[in-house]
Amino acid sequence: EKQDGDVLQKSFKDMISTLPKGNSWGFLGDVYQYQGFWFSPPFLQGALLAQQQFQAQPTDIILCSSPRTGAAWLKSLTFSTITRTTYDDSTTPLLSKMPHDVFSTNRHLGIPLLATHLPYSFLPRSIIDSGCKLIYICRDPKDTFVSLYHIVARYNKSQNTQPSQLDEARFKKAYWKASLERPDKLMFLKYEDLAEDTVLYLKKIAEFMGYPFSSEEQQQNVPENIVKMCSFDNLSGLEVNKTGRHREGYENLRIENNIFFRKGKPGDWKNYLTTEMAQRLDQRTMQKWSSSGLSL
Ligand code: A3P
Repeated sequence: EKQDGDVLQKSFKDMISTLPKGNSWGFLGDVYQYQGFWFSPPFLQGALLAQQQFQAQPTDIILCSSPRTGAAWLKSLTFSTITRTTYDDSTTPLLSKMPHDVFSTNRHLGIPLLATHLPYSFLPRSIIDSGCKLIYICRDPKDTFVSLYHIVARYNKSQNTQPSQLDEARFKKAYWKASLERPDKLMFLKYEDLAEDTVLYLKKIAEFMGYPFSSEEQQQNVPENIVKMCSFDNLSGLEVNKTGRHREGYENLRIENNIFFRKGKPGDWKNYLTTEMAQRLDQRTMQKWSSSGLSL
């Protein structure tokens, strides 16, 4: 079996080496363009392998996002909601592991939550066929850009790099379309809405996932307590998120957990982008949206 796996990986590697190459702000090494999106080789190999081998279960709930749009927050909220009768504020694994690392043992523990950074068109077929649920979180691309830029500023080793294409707008479009076509299977969330009224949106998420809060739970403020536990202030203050390192960093780079808890505020782009830069980013986003005939 291992040999088959090695052959498969080699064939992926060979294929990737033939793709158009760009650079990724330095810290991921080269990136390659495949079916319209830019990928680092380990990520693309993983995506291709998942397309061939991943088997979704109908009960799975898969959180989908492009990087820096609030995945760790959504992970902590959904995890706390689904495990609310198993753990409380003093026993939740979120106290000792960062949300991405908590998720890595979910399947093993029978918790039906998974997460991916794959574009919609790349999702393994079994995810659509199984009828499992997806929750997509998106964010103002200007804030996503600023958030990403901070990782680059911290980890980029070479000074002279240009970003390859920013894929978020196109990412968002495909998930948005799918959420209109299959609203019972795909929930489309905005970081800004979640920030505006987290309790309201947590209740919607719980309902969508099939784990609604009972009226008794609501009377006991269970949703409010989960929101507090998963708040930026609380999570960013935990020792593991202040000084720990992320288990799944790239080769030779174990990302510090605190990069996932930077500021956590909608609109932080205003502190970093000039009006002209913001307009350019908005224009690019609109251009990518306008071809879809959809409004957001
Ligand atoms: P900023 O860099 O703008 O602060 P991801 O988890 O998808 O990588 O997204 C990271 C972004 O989500 C970071 O944005 C991070 O600070 C923010 N974030 C992390 N935890 C959060 C929370 N509990 N509430 C709100 N935002 C949070």
